[in-house]
Amino acid sequence: MKFDKNLTIVILAAGKGKRMVSSTPKVLHNIIDKPMIYYTLKEAAKLDADNIFVITGHNHEILEKYLSDNFPEVIPVYQEKQMGTGHAVSLLKNFSNKKWESVLVLTGDCPLIKSETLASVVTCQQDGNYAACVATAILDNPYGYGRIIKNQDGQVKKIVEESDATSDEKSIREINTSIYCFDSNALFDNISFINSDNFQKEYYLTDIIEEFTKKNLKSLAFLISDGDEVLGINDRIQLSAVEKIMQKRINENLMASGVTITDPNSTFIGSDVFMENDTIIEPFSFIKGKTVIKKGCTIGPFAQIFDCEIDVGTTINSAVIKNALIGKNNNIGPYTYIRPGTVTSENVKIGGFCEVKKSIIGSNSKIPHLSYIGDAEMGSNINIGASSVTCNYDGYRKNKTVIGDDVFIGSDTMLVPPVHIGKGALIAAGSVITEDVPENSMALARSKQVNLPDGAVKYRKKKEVQNKKELKI
Ligand code: UD1
Ligand code: CA
Repeated sequence: MKFDKNLTIVILAAGKGKRMVSSTPKVLHNIIDKPMIYYTLKEAAKLDADNIFVITGHNHEILEKYLSDNFPEVIPVYQEKQMGTGHAVSLLKNFSNKKWESVLVLTGDCPLIKSETLASVVTCQQDGNYAACVATAILDNPYGYGRIIKNQDGQVKKIVEESDATSDEKSIREINTSIYCFDSNALFDNISFINSDNFQKEYYLTDIIEEFTKKNLKSLAFLISDGDEVLGINDRIQLSAVEKIMQKRINENLMASGVTITDPNSTFIGSDVFMENDTIIEPFSFIKGKTVIKKGCTIGPFAQIFDCEIDVGTTINSAVIKNALIGKNNNIGPYTYIRPGTVTSENVKIGGFCEVKKSIIGSNSKIPHLSYIGDAEMGSNINIGASSVTCNYDGYRKNKTVIGDDVFIGSDTMLVPPVHIGKGALIAAGSVITEDVPENSMALARSKQVNLPDGAVKYRKKKEVQNKKELKI
């Protein structure tokens, strides 16, 4: 976005967030799968400002590390003592210069704000050449917020905090959202006039508006009509309320792009997830991280998918899948666990109560029931019989199992690696395979069966005699 005048953004985030009852800085509490400040920073970044500053304070090292890891262009400014929002903004005086034109102030605990709304606030200030444009909202219950006091012309005369307001002022429902765009000169020429002569003994940024009024500098209110956008987070109840709205936005964006979500209320999708159209998400599904789901998949019910790529036409039902690449037209579940490093080709089936870890599974191969496959490399057209296991761990290290194309593994086979099963081989059920099996061979590795003629009859007779003796019948 481009504005007529240059723009600097400052995000206030130094407060402890007492009501979170947490050792984590408030703005680092997660909404969906990102710290709440992520959303504000992402929207702020769309404005193409010259600088973005974040005021840090309580546990500032943790927040500064998050910022340098994720938003390296952002400049943190440490506020040692949280002496109020006015004091926080005054710290920028050390950075500001005559070239600065507009300064947009935001808070880090208001993650639903949209860049278009922020842009309107900036444009409002710049077009009217106002000292400040204050973003406001009209709330049914304005309790706790600063109230907007206007003069006859409709300009903002001052802002009064709840704790300093008269009962008349408390009845005003138009509130300060803590989003403002200032003329840089007006801001920094007047910020030092703010004092802490109020109920909380803090330097209130809101007091600068009255300072402007005294000097005939004009402030305008910009009413934000969508109350959701300005919801602030002060406690964990508000955190969950905001998370719900954010989830609704993510789900609705996906639905608008052609994804069916059967029950949006029980579908939890992360902000970095990408899905193609004509995929269906069934209820109680969690899809998080950098997951990509291509066209025509059916996911859920009860799918948990983290950092995966799922190719076209795959079905996943009641499964937990982490860090895996799942090929086209796979059929996964129910009750399946697929762990990091797994890569499947097309038409693979991994069925009920199977676990697959760090394995490559070739096309048309099946692991249908109750099996564990770990550290394996499987070719195509392989059938793994029920309850078969790759015994990859010998107590010291993980060993690899390699299975060639067209192999049939009978049920309840233990493959003890390192072991190589040649192409086209067949393993008899119940085998414990400790040595390589050559191509097209049949391997039997179980004790030989013995059938004793009339053995069952003789056994029962013996038992009856024994019973009678013991019970003295
Ligand atoms: C503030 C406004 C109030 C407005 C409300 C909207 C003031 C005095 N009041 O009140 O008019 O209706 O927001 O939510 O500004 N912070 C710092 N350093 C400090 C103090 C605060 O960085 O020294 C940060 C906090 O971390 C927070 C933001 O500024 O992100 C707002 O501070 P907070 O104490 O929550 O102000 P409110 O009482 O909510
Ligand atoms: Ca607040």
